[in-house]
Amino acid sequence: MSRNFRRAGAAVLAALTATALVACSSEQAPQGEGGEGESAGSSTDTITLGFSQVGAESGWRAANTKSIQDTLTAENGFDLKFSDAQQKQENQIQAIRSYIQQQVDVIAFSPVVETGWDAVLEEAKAAGIPVILTDRAVDSEDDTLYESFIGSDFVLEGQTAGEWAVEQYDGEGYKAVELQGTTGAAPMIDRQQGFADAIAGSDIEIIDSQTGNFTRTEGKQVMEGFLQKYDDIDLVFAHNDDMGLGAIEAIEAAGKVPGEDIKIITVDAVKDGMQALADGKINFIVECNPLLGPDLAEIAKKVIAGEEVQKRIVVEDQAFDQEAAKEALPDRQY
Ligand code: AHR
Repeated sequence: MSRNFRRAGAAVLAALTATALVACSSEQAPQGEGGEGESAGSSTDTITLGFSQVGAESGWRAANTKSIQDTLTAENGFDLKFSDAQQKQENQIQAIRSYIQQQVDVIAFSPVVETGWDAVLEEAKAAGIPVILTDRAVDSEDDTLYESFIGSDFVLEGQTAGEWAVEQYDGEGYKAVELQGTTGAAPMIDRQQGFADAIAGSDIEIIDSQTGNFTRTEGKQVMEGFLQKYDDIDLVFAHNDDMGLGAIEAIEAAGKVPGEDIKIITVDAVKDGMQALADGKINFIVECNPLLGPDLAEIAKKVIAGEEVQKRIVVEDQAFDQEAAKEALPDRQY
């Protein structure tokens, strides 16, 4: 469907939806760069794309935001409206509604949690505005509510972490704790599942799990609590590097040696995590590639041109042990 056709066909619905939204809610433009006070719509050549980011909770997220902002530039044909939801679903819903009111050409977002999106995505659909999911999935039965989902396979990431743990430590009777990501977020649900499936049948036992909300501060706090509660922790599986780095601080403060007394496996492979891996404080990292800007730009252009796009684009990830981290670090982009 061409952009003009899509717009004409949806014009009446869009107007009605926008009017209803203004009447029913106290909408504000999303906070952050390009959110407030910018004109709606775009020239024929420029794609106005409203992006609602989860937040700034981790090194991964910072790299992801940079990739999007560096790629969706005016030189590359985009007018990017960017908002930071500070890890709150209600802020993302507010941002998406604001983008609908502004009649942007495309909405893209990385959903903080999996559920609860159908209503606002239906509003976008009724307004004729295509939606692209990046990084995280939504849990919806209606996959016509978005054009494409670009992101890693989080189950596979958890599985890769678990398989490595089994390969290295099965037979030792290891007691593991899990630092989980944001409750209800796709990477939290999927990495937990993948890891649990991979260690099933081994003698590695998860003795406790708690959310550290993907942040270094909360990862440290949760690990401090685990260390007070248990004196026999052998292994930490952290759903991201930042929580693993927080755990390192807690382990060192408790007089133990991270990577030796307590083994650590994380996901992401951002520079700080890779440095800790090379330094021997982390034992294994499964990569989650945050450089999604180029794929998002390509898919947005295709959608606007009315071209077919893949519903699911899986981003390839690698995994690193300590030796591989030393080799990869000098060329690491993020
Ligand atoms: O959704 C990707 C995850 O979100 C990353 O693993 C984590 O660091 C981020 O906060």
